[in-house]
Amino acid sequence: VGPDVLDIRKLYGQTGKFTYDPGFLSTASCASAITYIDGDKGELLYRGYPIEQLAQNCDFLETSYLILNGELPDAEQKKDFDHQVTHHTMVNEQMHFFLRGFRRDAHPMAVLTGLVGGMSAFYHDSTDINNPMHRHISAIRLVAKMPTLVAMAYKFSQGQPFMYPQNDLSYTGNFLRMMFANPCEEYKVNDVVERALDRIFILHADHEQNASTSTVRLCGSSGTNPFAAIAAGVACLWGPAHGGANEACLNMLEEIQANGGVAKVGEFMEKVKDKSSGVKLMGFGHRVYKNYDPRAKLMQETCKEVLQALGLENDPLFKLSMELERIALEDDYFVQRKLYPNVDFYSGIVQRAIGIPTSLFTAIFALARTVGWIAQWNEMLSDPEFKIGRPRQLYTGHAKRDVVALDQR
Ligand code: ACO
Repeated sequence: VGPDVLDIRKLYGQTGKFTYDPGFLSTASCASAITYIDGDKGELLYRGYPIEQLAQNCDFLETSYLILNGELPDAEQKKDFDHQVTHHTMVNEQMHFFLRGFRRDAHPMAVLTGLVGGMSAFYHDSTDINNPMHRHISAIRLVAKMPTLVAMAYKFSQGQPFMYPQNDLSYTGNFLRMMFANPCEEYKVNDVVERALDRIFILHADHEQNASTSTVRLCGSSGTNPFAAIAAGVACLWGPAHGGANEACLNMLEEIQANGGVAKVGEFMEKVKDKSSGVKLMGFGHRVYKNYDPRAKLMQETCKEVLQALGLENDPLFKLSMELERIALEDDYFVQRKLYPNVDFYSGIVQRAIGIPTSLFTAIFALARTVGWIAQWNEMLSDPEFKIGRPRQLYTGHAKRDVVALDQR
């Protein structure tokens, strides 16, 4: 504290207590009953159910119902929910014109942020956030329309015609068709690919108060339109320290492959350990998991299945990632810092194998996380103690002073 700087310690000493916790390392921003993580055990539960059991026994829409409503659906509830979602998959035709305003080489996350935000201009029948029915219809619309928006962004980038949703397909099958079919040919959804992508969606559906979810809550706490709040989440997810890590991870693997492959992994790891290099092992480390991320284990399993089913068992990037993981698990640098693969380490390899371009990986993540964002938004608005989010700060600027006239400065 210099002579001309306000003594903040005195000020806050006089006005009461507050916590200063940059990066929210130990501050809970809300109470939530949706997702539980035990970072030391490497455990993840949605509404009490282990992620492994959900990935094994449920599809993404069942998991979405659980996340939104708190319980798994019975057969009738599942049928009804699937029907509601599949019958809201179309987007207003005006969205096509909106999309056409973007450059074709724009990053899909830039396009998706715009498209999701743009949807707030369309649904004037459901803007009362205090009305549970309005919140419900917004949730259904968002879950239903995200695959359509992501596929539209992809088709636009390729200069190909948009494929309209087909409601007799599953949620994930329909998405694959909108991505990869064209109007001139028959398209058959590959079962292994469909199941793998559905699992990617399940594993990414929610993850308690991460940066993008906290963004959606903070943005939504002002009472803003739900599509605007979710657009804020999409924007936050884009960063390489968060959802953008899957894209950054695949780019990293491709770079190592191009510069010598497995033989150069040891050299690359030495670079990562040298802090002055600024190189991070993307897809490794997590703020909460200080043990193996359970989603990474499931993703590794899916990766093997997909590569085998597609005849890509010798995929060099998969071999490379296994070698990176092997070295990291034995190296003191990573062991001491409890750095393990996170969900993004293997998901890029699966997505690449099924034909999804690297630049679209984070948009796929956003598609899946939308249900978590909207469930958290809804939970916040239903909370009797709900208040607008308004963090405080630790002021480190000047003490009060007088303006000196321009000609005397
Ligand atoms: N590679 C090399 N070193 C790392 C890595 C990594 N990926 N991650 C953390 N470290 C090191 C840090 O340099 C630090 O070392 P130090 O103690 O010597 O200073 C130590 O491990 C602790 O790291 P922090 O940065 O304090 O951990 P934090 O919890 O703040 O960061 C994060 C977590 C952002 C995920 C980080 O591990 C990272 O950047 N990983 C790579 C990006 C990534 O994969 N992100 C995806 C996260 S999962 C998701 O969002 C879906």
